[in-house]
Amino acid sequence: MGEQRILLVEDDAPIRKMIGKYLQAQGYHVGIASDGVEALVLVGEHLPDLVLTDVNMPRMNGLELTRRLRGHHRTAQVPIIMLSALRESADVLKGYAEGADEYVPKPIELSVLAVKIESLLRRRAPADTPAKPPGRVTLFMHGRGGVGATTLAVNTGVAIAGLPMTTAGLLDLDLDYGDAAVLLNLKPARSLADLREVGDRPFDAELLEMFSSRHASGLVVVQGCDRPQRAELVTVPAVQRALEQMRANFDHVLVDLAANFSEQTLAAIDAADRACLVTPPTIPGLRATAHCLEVLEQIKYPASRIALVLNRARPGGLGLDQVSQFLRRDPDIAVMYSDALEDCAALGVPVVQVQPAGAAARELQAMAEFLAGARVAA
Ligand SMILES: Nc1ncnc2c1ncn2[C@@H]1O[C@H](COP(=O)(O)OP(=O)(O)O)[C@@H](O)[C@H]1O
Ligand SMILES: [Mg+2]
Repeated sequence: MGEQRILLVEDDAPIRKMIGKYLQAQGYHVGIASDGVEALVLVGEHLPDLVLTDVNMPRMNGLELTRRLRGHHRTAQVPIIMLSALRESADVLKGYAEGADEYVPKPIELSVLAVKIESLLRRRAPADTPAKPPGRVTLFMHGRGGVGATTLAVNTGVAIAGLPMTTAGLLDLDLDYGDAAVLLNLKPARSLADLREVGDRPFDAELLEMFSSRHASGLVVVQGCDRPQRAELVTVPAVQRALEQMRANFDHVLVDLAANFSEQTLAAIDAADRACLVTPPTIPGLRATAHCLEVLEQIKYPASRIALVLNRARPGGLGLDQVSQFLRRDPDIAVMYSDALEDCAALGVPVVQVQPAGAAARELQAMAEFLAGARVAA
């Protein structure tokens, strides 16, 4: 392991110097900022392994800094230690409420600080012997709703779970209007919006079990949120931890996304091995897909990991060549319009199970085999 980076955020120059020197002597690489604003700039340049921040500072204090780090997909899980002379419990509690991991009172005892840093960094280190290689994460994205992303996610999920020796989980991250469970006629008892009720315990296999609903096909569904007014309760770290544990448990993890680029969506994109971008063969739909491709390019998601999925194709509608021309890339998979899919969705049953010999089921089965089998270039 290389040198670990600690970002020290403190407005008091003598204290800064004292802690900075001490940590360097301990072998850490130390970045220095004198308030939250400077700290965010440095974090943007180089992600630290741990942040050590004072509470009271000009421009942006440590509480606001913590809130911002926790709300951003890249920094949501960086350990944060707060340093403060404020001994009142109310301020300590505020720090923890914003997501700080530890609190060290001033005047600082350097040896105590060192032990806390070491233990937080150790906790973050990857577990030593994973039971199996991590599962592959496939996203189902769309530029706008109603194009069939959830339908494809659910049906390919059921089909993948039905492949020999293959396990699959589906995380529904459409936090406002998620309906993956509904399409499978499942009624999850909890969603990630309820995570705070279980307190500060790690998101391990046991916790995953509590948040899982199992479909008869073997597909396990984890619901992100149960109603739009609770979406803000689903934190970025919660999404990241749930995904990490799902990866540890299943061979394939499918993520049904909302048509947005929220921090929760970006967290899933960071973890994804591949993104199925679902597009309809309509001009407004293709425009939304083009915009989605633009954003993916801007955030440097490799084009080789995107599978363009044309859904609801119909004879007489826009053809494959027109779609290719519009998007300047060929669809990797095409799924035809099928009344069977509409009917099955209305009943909450997956078409791949109830009409396995039908045309729609065969197309979706092929898509599942493509997703489960094909390796993608890194
Ligand atoms: N290939 C298809 N043929 C016919 N209907 C489809 C097809 N794919 C999806 N649908 C229907 O389109 C509607 C929207 O699908 P849904 O999966 O909820 O979209 P999204 O998740 O993109 O918002 C549903 O009624 C679904 O049954
Ligand atoms: Mg959907």
